[in-house]
Amino acid sequence: MLSKIRGTKDLFDEEALSWEHMEKTCQSVFHQYGFTPLRTPIIESLELFKRSVGEVTDIVQKEMYQFIDRSNQEIALRPEGTAGIVRAVIENHWIPESGSLKVYYYGPMFRAERPQKGRQRQFHQIGAEYFGSSSIYADAETIEMLIRFLNTLGIQGSVLHLNNIGSAEDRKNYAALLKKYIEQNGIDKKLTPEEQARLQKNALRLLDSKNPELKDHLKNAPRIAENVSLESQQNFKELCQVLTDLQIPYTLNPNMVRGLDYYTHTVFELTHEALGAQDAIGAGGRYDRLVEELGGKPTPAVGFAVGVERLMIILEQSKKAQTTSRPSSFLIALGDAAKQKAFGILSDLRREGLSIEMDFDSRSLKANMRTADRKKANVVLILGEDELKNGVIQVKDMFSNQTDKQTQVPIAELPNFLKHKYPIDKGNVC
Ligand code: HAM
Repeated sequence: MLSKIRGTKDLFDEEALSWEHMEKTCQSVFHQYGFTPLRTPIIESLELFKRSVGEVTDIVQKEMYQFIDRSNQEIALRPEGTAGIVRAVIENHWIPESGSLKVYYYGPMFRAERPQKGRQRQFHQIGAEYFGSSSIYADAETIEMLIRFLNTLGIQGSVLHLNNIGSAEDRKNYAALLKKYIEQNGIDKKLTPEEQARLQKNALRLLDSKNPELKDHLKNAPRIAENVSLESQQNFKELCQVLTDLQIPYTLNPNMVRGLDYYTHTVFELTHEALGAQDAIGAGGRYDRLVEELGGKPTPAVGFAVGVERLMIILEQSKKAQTTSRPSSFLIALGDAAKQKAFGILSDLRREGLSIEMDFDSRSLKANMRTADRKKANVVLILGEDELKNGVIQVKDMFSNQTDKQTQVPIAELPNFLKHKYPIDKGNVC
């Protein structure tokens, strides 16, 4: 038997419907904030990720799915969404001369990581990117939107971690400072070979190492947020104040530097204890240089992405997973003449906005009732020979405890009857 690739997942029925619900929730919340959808391809040039995410990051060095296609181009399956979005807005000239552009996206991303709870090789992100504003209010609005989205889904208890990693130049100076601290305190001698390599290539990443010994060695190291320009420190202070005013709690996490190279100034991560080891629901930050680095005009930007699988874990654990509605009426026709009439009724009811389906394979009433049960239909319509002769249909309420759970309704009155008894806005029939 053929099986799915390790680290991927098939979604069906309840689970897939919960995803649809999540997608709809993100659309309605993000539209409220003026964000508009942008869909970019899953395949992009490998070069794009090398230049944006960074050559010496784990994502580019170890985790990308990359291949050479039939016309010898180096291609990668996107490991994240921001790079493709930035490429698209530059290439299509979508960033206005003045003013901002706010976009959101939803889709699969690919990283060849070791699969575990909350970590897959094909996973999905919901993300948003805000171009054209360097105001800390843009940071605050983006963070607020992310938290509103989670709250609307019913997720409580996430923790917002914040840090300021300054400009690219600040980071270069800080990396030298950190390296000096590590060497002066003999910490370099205690590093594993992989950590040694990091020290040389990307010293900042030592700060968010999960190795408890290294964490302990670095606990008194100089802090990045205190070693960035005064302007950046002042902006960050203002952002913290705005978040406090919005009653958004946060914790300052001086060791959070993020694993992608494009960030500048504000970085953030949202964690949730229900997730276990992979506890980040989502993350983001400012990337004021990336548009220019990829060939566009200098444009400040800020954004985030959340992991859909991780949201689902939290929702399932807190039993708050919701689904979009499904067809919830089922029509049973007994006999060929009834089937022919029933097919027209299906079409009429759907035209009226009602959701309904039918099994066309002339099974028995009992078999059809079993199917209706399995599909959790709340109304079953039965059209037999007698009903057909009299121009009526039996309407059976599957969830009613009343004795009159089955009513006979003239076919011509059926749409009005159903709409009145099972209003669409209550999600009963539609
Ligand atoms: P990231 O931190 O690499 O940031 O990923 C964002 C979120 O994607 C993570 O917090 C996590 O929930 C989810 N995620 C990442 N890898 C996996 C995986 N292997 N399996 C399941 N979920 C995963 C970014 O991707 C940036 N593009 C975010 C951003 C947007 N920054 C600015 N704009």
